[in-house]
Amino acid sequence: MLDFIRRGKPSLAPMAGVADRAMRELCMASGAAFCVSEMVSAKGYILGDKTSAKLLRITPAEAPMGVQFFGDSPETVADAVRKLLAEGIEDSLPPAFIDINMGCPAPKITHGGAGSALLKEPMKCERMVLLAGKAAGNIPLSVKLRTGWDAEHITAPEIAKRCEAAGAAFVTIHGRHKQQMFAPPVDIDSISAVKQAVQIPVIANGDVQDSGNAAYLLEATGCDAVMIGRGAQGRPWAFREDGSIAPSLRERMELMLEHTRRLCLYKGEYIGMREARKHAAWYTKGVRGAAALRREIVSAMRIPDLEAIAAKLLSWWEAEA
Ligand SMILES: Cc1cc2nc3c(=O)[nH]c(=O)nc-3n(C[C@H](O)[C@H](O)[C@H](O)COP(=O)(O)O)c2cc1C
Repeated sequence: MLDFIRRGKPSLAPMAGVADRAMRELCMASGAAFCVSEMVSAKGYILGDKTSAKLLRITPAEAPMGVQFFGDSPETVADAVRKLLAEGIEDSLPPAFIDINMGCPAPKITHGGAGSALLKEPMKCERMVLLAGKAAGNIPLSVKLRTGWDAEHITAPEIAKRCEAAGAAFVTIHGRHKQQMFAPPVDIDSISAVKQAVQIPVIANGDVQDSGNAAYLLEATGCDAVMIGRGAQGRPWAFREDGSIAPSLRERMELMLEHTRRLCLYKGEYIGMREARKHAAWYTKGVRGAAALRREIVSAMRIPDLEAIAAKLLSWWEAEA
């Protein structure tokens, strides 16, 4: 049932506003073990919010894929799981697993008691997993944690243990506490402590760039697999076996344009292009001449604009090669 968790095969982390269908498809095609939806409000989904329902859709090119809910109330999260499994999502495969967000540090999430605010309430986490797990039936239920609320309160090992007792199938641990946001360092010891606290699989996360340096985190923590987030931004090849080797500039540009085409196809040109700009900035990061084109990249209105930028970068590169 958990055969999508593989030691040598990193998975794609959930990233709201970034790891959407277009990015997930490209990362899965590059060899990611599995992927996860952007976080979805359990309450919003129950209340019939159409955007939330859309975020839960899984297409064949994304499978195996899990969906992630956030919420402050165990009952609400369980209700969302129940609704999802009873009603399903139009044109969607069933989720490979259902994940609960216990790590988001954004104030608009934590002020309501969800995301990493849950790290202050181990018993509530346990109850959430118990109720949501019952609602999930035979679909695996997992949790994604940070190490704790702050450096003085590293609660993840205790919470992981409680979640396991309540029926969680696996745990993903991002090795930072809430107050750290994304500042270094990743806390290897706390990730290891989570691994040692439970028998279920533990996925380590934090600052892994690609399959090339995934082995370090696996060895240092004893975890079962790793998950890559920001390392995959503009780098879907991060999941290839030789993920630390960037492909040719031509291939990079082809991937950027394919990503853009998919964004426009799935979201329409207006929204698709606005979202494509940040991805294009990532795809061209460090490419010779790209800094001079930054303004053009972040104001591209249509696919041909980015095609022209890619052609320009390639011609400069070829002229100098
Ligand atoms: C833009 C962005 C959005 C994120 N959204 C989510 C989310 O929806 N759910 C979640 O559990 N984590 C989310 N995260 C956290 C990542 O899944 C991951 O834990 C974190 O980025 C650390 O991994 P990394 O160093 O490989 O990026 C997000 C991170 C970023 C940068």
